[in-house]
Amino acid sequence: MAKNDISMAVIKRLPRYYRFLGEMKRAGVQRISSGELSKRMGFTASQIRQDLNCFGGFGQQGYGYNVAQLYKEIGKILGVDKKAKTVLIGAGNLGRAVAAHMSFEERGFNLIGIFDKNEALAGQLVRNLPIRHIDGLYDFCRDNAPTVAVLCIPGEHAEVITDELVRLGVKGFWNFSHYDIAAHHPNVAVENVHLSDSLMTLSYYINNL
Ligand code: NAI
Repeated sequence: MAKNDISMAVIKRLPRYYRFLGEMKRAGVQRISSGELSKRMGFTASQIRQDLNCFGGFGQQGYGYNVAQLYKEIGKILGVDKKAKTVLIGAGNLGRAVAAHMSFEERGFNLIGIFDKNEALAGQLVRNLPIRHIDGLYDFCRDNAPTVAVLCIPGEHAEVITDELVRLGVKGFWNFSHYDIAAHHPNVAVENVHLSDSLMTLSYYINNL
């Protein structure tokens, strides 16, 4: 199946497969059937077979899936072996937490620069990277050519920065800012994160137990 034919629903499930398989690999599990995988992950066995068939199967009748191989293959599909140069904009509470705790390198990204407009933050280290003043963004991007940006600034400040980053060659945004990047830049990749959506989903669950 051509890459573009794979549904977004399948792509969205891949990180979860990758996480579970990684845990199993670390626990020393060598192979697993789609039935066992389904019990652990909460997807049906036929769903799992269908999903993995999109990428060429990786399983053998009567043997199941080789955990290490499947983990590696899904990692390749997700691109975790790549090192996309990444900048983070907004070194406030959220930006620092994301920069400090997210293992970018294990997920296909290399965080190379952190920027903020607050001069008082300039030079402070987060994850061994100095916070740079936002005025240096143009030169930094021209010299280092990052392709990904993490936006941790308020939505009302995101438009100008996003336009500039797109002009400077950024093609993907991990967007915490509540600004609708996709509506203004339909040709870049955007992954919006709204923790409040997750919290409200929990609210629905507890109110419907
Ligand atoms: P904060 O006020 O601690 O940090 C914001 C930082 O962005 C400040 O250091 C500020 O100087 C910097 N900043 C603002 N405009 C800038 C610009 N044009 N260029 C460079 N730096 C700029 O706020 P916090 O708690 O870190 O939250 C940041 C944003 O993320 C907020 O707008 C908040 O609504 C949003 N947020 C989103 C969440 C999500 O799940 N998507 C979760 C939590 C916060």
